[in-house]
Amino acid sequence: MEPVLRLSNVRYSYPSGVPALNGVDMELRAGEIVAVVGQNGSGKTTLFKVISGLLRPYSGVVTINGTDARSMTVGEIAGVVGLVLQNPDVQLFSQTVLEEVEFGPRHLGMDPRASRGRAEEVLRILRLEGKAAEFPLSLPRGERVRLAVAACLALKPAVLMLDEPTTGQDFHGLREIARIMRSFARSGGAVLLATHNMEIVAENAHRIITMESGAVKVNGPTRWLMSMPGLLTQVGINPPQVVRLDREVLGDQRTALTVEELTDKIEEKMEEKRAGSQGIR
Ligand SMILES: Nc1ncnc2c1ncn2[C@@H]1O[C@H](COP(=O)(O)OP(=O)(O)O)[C@@H](O)[C@H]1O
Ligand SMILES: [Mg+2]
Repeated sequence: MEPVLRLSNVRYSYPSGVPALNGVDMELRAGEIVAVVGQNGSGKTTLFKVISGLLRPYSGVVTINGTDARSMTVGEIAGVVGLVLQNPDVQLFSQTVLEEVEFGPRHLGMDPRASRGRAEEVLRILRLEGKAAEFPLSLPRGERVRLAVAACLALKPAVLMLDEPTTGQDFHGLREIARIMRSFARSGGAVLLATHNMEIVAENAHRIITMESGAVKVNGPTRWLMSMPGLLTQVGINPPQVVRLDREVLGDQRTALTVEELTDKIEEKMEEKRAGSQGIR
């Protein structure tokens, strides 16, 4: 299957001369949740902005659904690739939550009734239907992030990029973000998630890309990457507590990624020990 997104040797420098992307190669396929991790300044936000067409690479190619993005306008890209910025407030501009979500479909030429229907549907999916009449910037941060996600999803994109959506989220907010990513990916969408929250990565991402100084350092399946102690720490990221505990205490091949997996493994070990002391083995 053709990847929905492909970057070949993408480079970007800010006008100030700071080289922010130094030859990035990556692919993203339908149904995947891929986490992009790395220290502040490693290039995650620049990467997302380049993919969304807000910034244009000075060399290399971004291909979206098989089309060279150089032949697409920012508006065309926005219909396929949704971006929720680190600070979602800069992308919220409407008077009500409902208008915010309707704007995209209406702007792309959908008739008013259909765009309203689509907006209401998306608000239900994101559990914001009770907030339709509220002023977007008056919502708590968790809901503002979800509203920005809703405005993207209203356009039925193939790719959803979330730039640090976990910052400042409480437990409920984090669970909602995880739920939204999973349901979008299950329905055939692809997710790129930049975050420092390694728990949400371990529990939800199929694959991890680590970045350093504007380049991809490692790109591999989550469980594999989590089982190799050096791969995250070399880019200054600590694996989640569950993973560290597992490696230090149990330390076998199949690294636990969630509390449930760790509990299961411990119970198995205890069972083995009991069986052993009763002379069964
Ligand atoms: N608007 C900007 N102007 C100049 N340099 C920038 C700008 N935004 C980011 N940078 C620089 O680009 C590099 C990558 O930053 P960024 O993409 O924001 O990384 P991250 O999102 O991983 O923290 C850093 O060196 C940063 O200082
Ligand atoms: Mg950033």
